[in-house]
Amino acid sequence: MTFKTRLLPGAVFFCDGGILELAGKHLVLGLTGGIACYKIAELTRLLIKAGATVQIVMTEAATQFITPVTMQALSGRPVYTSQWDARMPNNMPHIDLSREADVIVIAPASTDFIAKIAHGRCDDLLSTLVIARDCPLLVVPAMNRQMWQNPATQRNVAQIRADGVEVLGPDSGSQACGEVGDGRMIEPEAAFEAICAFFQPKIMRGQRVLITAGPTFEPLDPVRGITNRSSGKMGFALARAAAQAGADVHLVAGPVSLPTPWGVYREDVQTAQQMHDAVMAATPDADVFIAVAAVADWRVDHVSEHKIKKAAGQPLPAFNFVENPDILATVAKLSNPPYCVGFAAESGDLQLNGMEKRKRKGVPLLIGNIGQLTFGRDDNEVVLFDESGTTPLPRADKQELARTLIAEIAKRAPRTGGPLLS
Ligand code: CTP
Repeated sequence: MTFKTRLLPGAVFFCDGGILELAGKHLVLGLTGGIACYKIAELTRLLIKAGATVQIVMTEAATQFITPVTMQALSGRPVYTSQWDARMPNNMPHIDLSREADVIVIAPASTDFIAKIAHGRCDDLLSTLVIARDCPLLVVPAMNRQMWQNPATQRNVAQIRADGVEVLGPDSGSQACGEVGDGRMIEPEAAFEAICAFFQPKIMRGQRVLITAGPTFEPLDPVRGITNRSSGKMGFALARAAAQAGADVHLVAGPVSLPTPWGVYREDVQTAQQMHDAVMAATPDADVFIAVAAVADWRVDHVSEHKIKKAAGQPLPAFNFVENPDILATVAKLSNPPYCVGFAAESGDLQLNGMEKRKRKGVPLLIGNIGQLTFGRDDNEVVLFDESGTTPLPRADKQELARTLIAEIAKRAPRTGGPLLS
């Protein structure tokens, strides 16, 4: 089955300092019977907050778990539950609702509903709407682990995948029935992330991207250490944008309290040496390396085993510092390096220092932060330094800026993966 291409360029709108990532997108969100229906209240709220319009359609079974009144209040639109609903002027809700949609999302998708999709059965509004669609279909399964493992279910899931349906999840863990295993619905935040990713052009499909993010922490003793004000937001935003662009992303993160972006493999480290070791182990598999971390340049040569005590009349503690490895420069100097991108935090002349730093690190692209107040903020302003000179980019929300930067990197990095766009 072929669908008309709906992967639109990532138009993003701003609102109250946040970004409306799904502005202009219209989704049909179909609920089928399952306890995970409660998660769809939150998913709907996230979609609406991101600027999407959401048309809720519910099966009869879904209405046993959450009421159409709740879903109407959250989506701000009347809910459809019946094939015989006379509200559509031509009395064909299955055609009209599906024609308006950029995507149909079935969440939660029950065992029975997946079987219906696999076999092309349509005996209610939602299943009829699915078979009458001319847009992509995303399915978010939710069921008991035995139902999920049943060979019939596995056959049906394989069949719908082969038919071009995207299946999101399921998760593993404790289930409403008290059992533990595969089958629970992915969390609403994860479903939201996957829907956002669905709308992004896959300009990095097949590329393997290694990213460092956050600060490092260099211990002085068991309780104290040296770190910096990096929040990790820019690096995590780049990881999210690269994953949304179809890349296989490995994120090496210093100590930050940020959630892992959807679809990103994360490795947590503390010190610069640990970050170096993690990066060197992952580099042979990487096509692109983006060093965003604010790596501590020095560490003490001897970390005290016990907490350093202050005692009256004693001299202040003195530390000997040794240099940490320069991770970016080390990777850039490898005989067959990935495409390397550095970041620069400067307090002096950015233009001069940026050009010099790019040469010193031996990287094709360096991104300079304009101003010193970027740490912890939600927006940023940068300038690109490459072989053709400098390109300033306008101040933007870090997530939006990350998309622009991933597009700039995708333009420059040699392609090793599959086709550019799906
Ligand atoms: N970097 C790194 N390893 C280090 C230091 C920096 O990988 N030990 C990377 C950073 O992730 C960033 C780039 O190098 O991409 C520049 O970092 P920055 O702190 O701006 O520069 P430094 O190399 O530390 O030089 P200086 O502090 O003298 O400006």
